[in-house]
Amino acid sequence: MQVAMLTLDPSFRVGAVDPRLFGTFVEHMGRCVYTGIYEPGHPTADGDGFREDVLDLVRELGPTVVRYPGGNFVSGYRWEDGIGAPDQRPRRLDLAWRTVETNAVGVDEFAAWCRRAEVDPVMAVNLGTRGVQEAIDLLEYCNHPEGTALSELRRANGAKQPHDIRTWCLGNELDGPWQVGHKTAYEYGRLAAETARAMRMVDPSIELVACGSSNSSMPTFASWEATMLEECYDLVDYVSMHTYYDPRTTDRASFLASSLDLEHMIESIVATADHVGARVRSGRRLRLSVDEWNVWHQSRFPGQDHLSYDDTDPALIEDVYDVTDAVVVGSLLIALLRHADRIGIACQAQLVNVIAPIMTRAGGPAWRQTIFYPFAEASRWARGQVLRVEPRVERHSTADHDDVPLIDSVATWDEESATLTVLCVNRAENDDVRLEMEARAFPGLQLVDASVLSHDDPATTNTEAHPDAVLPRPLTEASVQDGRVTAVLPPVSWAVLRLTTSSSTHHPPATSPAGTAR
Ligand code: AHR
Repeated sequence: MQVAMLTLDPSFRVGAVDPRLFGTFVEHMGRCVYTGIYEPGHPTADGDGFREDVLDLVRELGPTVVRYPGGNFVSGYRWEDGIGAPDQRPRRLDLAWRTVETNAVGVDEFAAWCRRAEVDPVMAVNLGTRGVQEAIDLLEYCNHPEGTALSELRRANGAKQPHDIRTWCLGNELDGPWQVGHKTAYEYGRLAAETARAMRMVDPSIELVACGSSNSSMPTFASWEATMLEECYDLVDYVSMHTYYDPRTTDRASFLASSLDLEHMIESIVATADHVGARVRSGRRLRLSVDEWNVWHQSRFPGQDHLSYDDTDPALIEDVYDVTDAVVVGSLLIALLRHADRIGIACQAQLVNVIAPIMTRAGGPAWRQTIFYPFAEASRWARGQVLRVEPRVERHSTADHDDVPLIDSVATWDEESATLTVLCVNRAENDDVRLEMEARAFPGLQLVDASVLSHDDPATTNTEAHPDAVLPRPLTEASVQDGRVTAVLPPVSWAVLRLTTSSSTHHPPATSPAGTAR
């Protein structure tokens, strides 16, 4: 059996986990909103038409922020269409996803849903077909307390209190030729700068996200950021990054190593942003918002240009995820946490039905996909300070990546509850790996809980008929002795170990995400 070794020490701190690292994304796309979060007439619908069964699963998944309303959708969106009396709202062509948007859900409904889901909204403005005026109008509508035409309009529409949306994205993927209103980096940088300046005049307390690269293969990757940040560096707080990984475009070993590309992206964009910061003599350091990331079987999607407005099936990219996909999602979460010093926001895309951890049937049940579990466990337990653990383990090359560690891992240390959490993946396709962790720097360490997600057949999925085919189960081969933690990780697996130290003055919480065997 292969052996991997690592060291757990509270001094090896990367930075604090910003809870917004566990964000998600709701786009007006396919069935994410309609028959996803919203379905009046569904047996579980509340008085506002929100599905309670989905709300329960969202609270269990535990996202902290939700980006809305797109995505490509936002680049042609008129926010005013989605407010006021529902029966007066216009039906509009959605150019991004070749559909007709009814506008039954708009910003007021979404803000109300966020309160019920116990999440904070992250709002994107349209910088594709629109500009400064529409962005400041939307901000005034949402955040100004009262006494102006737009704030009074919100109040007349039923939202007496401001929505108080703190984080705003300046457009979406405007580096992409597929984007409605696609721009050059300079054009975008100028528009982002002027929009940011005006938005801060409306509400100086907001945080702003500039639109970065759509993926690491873009021909403008990094040069887009360098050029646009020259125009807006001191006016924004975050640079966004999007990345999706497709198992169908590569071999399995390379797919299992996808997080190496994410790390390369993060490090490249941090270096680029810091370079511009130095050039413009700024004292500020920008953080990243990885506001779309996931596994997406993208090669199955024919592309938006092949969609037609008369398509009667609203479903779009409803990927069904297996255990391997969940392990890759786990490794992407580990990579995000390892860069907690520079990542302030990350949103798994998307939340329901569209490449999502939660699936629904219209009029029927909702269930958890395999990728639900790594997110739910990391969101619940990975809090406090991220600890660098530097696994010492065999490394291999794949078709797409060199120097791939067989296991990957990160730890978090929550001093307040004296809880140490270790997240790990085993990328080995056929072999168990024994993980030995030197942890003498934590006195009186005890194992609280250890769970693992794996399956004899890693192609196993959860479906409506078999919603619990894949569940985390107790990792029985885990123990602590004399300050050394040992765990045997099965092939293609995601595991979470929670430990507590004798210096604890608080008891660690007793509950696990539903489905996590204890
Ligand atoms: O999440 C699906 C789509 O992927 C989004 O609309 C877009 O921003 C990205 O290309």
